[in-house]
Amino acid sequence: MTALLLEIDGLSVDRGGARVVTDLDARLEQGEVLSIMGANGAGKSSLLRAVIGLEAAAEGRVLLDEVDLTALKPRDRAARGIGFCPEGRRLFPGLTVEENLAVVFEGPSRARRFRVEEMFARFPALAAKRRDRAWSLSGGQQQMLAIARAIMNAPRLVLLDEPTLGLAPMIIDEVLEIVRAIAVEGTGVLMAEQNVTPALRVADRVLVLARGRVVEGGSADDLSAERIATLMLTGA
Ligand SMILES: Nc1ncnc2c1ncn2[C@@H]1O[C@H](COP(=O)(O)OP(=O)(O)O)[C@@H](O)[C@H]1O
Ligand SMILES: [Mg+2]
Repeated sequence: MTALLLEIDGLSVDRGGARVVTDLDARLEQGEVLSIMGANGAGKSSLLRAVIGLEAAAEGRVLLDEVDLTALKPRDRAARGIGFCPEGRRLFPGLTVEENLAVVFEGPSRARRFRVEEMFARFPALAAKRRDRAWSLSGGQQQMLAIARAIMNAPRLVLLDEPTLGLAPMIIDEVLEIVRAIAVEGTGVLMAEQNVTPALRVADRVLVLARGRVVEGGSADDLSAERIATLMLTGA
């Protein structure tokens, strides 16, 4: 059984006076990973930011569970069940691992402590570092922490902006295993990526963006890494 979670209808986004996402349609079901692939500047981050509400929609709509979120502020979208892991992680470097998680939690302190422990059970590498400051972690650990923080409030949909950027291949696989596990539990994952081969492996479906437009889309099984890489470069 599948259930539609996220629906993006005819979304266009303007930044700095230019249209950076044009008339984009996308659907994401519960428990699915949708990988948005595109070169630098293709509009991946702008798309994710428009879904969480950090960029306005110039045209079109964003719906979660058939509810139109387009007019809502980022905070209200998050409250409806969207988690966001921004490009470059944006951790609180001077806070400890534990504090990075606790500080975003919405709810009473006992529930917060319980949820932090749940996160440590799921991310043992972070548990070992719980009292270390975020800046002192390795790149892979920082990315795990950023993902853990994005799912602290048990969102129905999580947006991950280039979670494998700058990581070694072995660490990329570890991060994407976590992404897969999050989806298996029923959370929808909308992920922007440029690392085509690993992102294709973890994805159920793929959209390829070039200059803000969808140039290819479909089931991950029907697309090859070579074709996606070519489309990312040429847009045709
Ligand atoms: N803060 C900004 N102000 C104006 N233009 C921006 C800003 N951020 C990105 N852009 C432009 O928006 C387009 C899409 O960028 P972005 O969404 O960041 O792409 P990607 O994440 O795929 O690299 C690019 O042309 C980029 O130059
Ligand atoms: Mg980006």
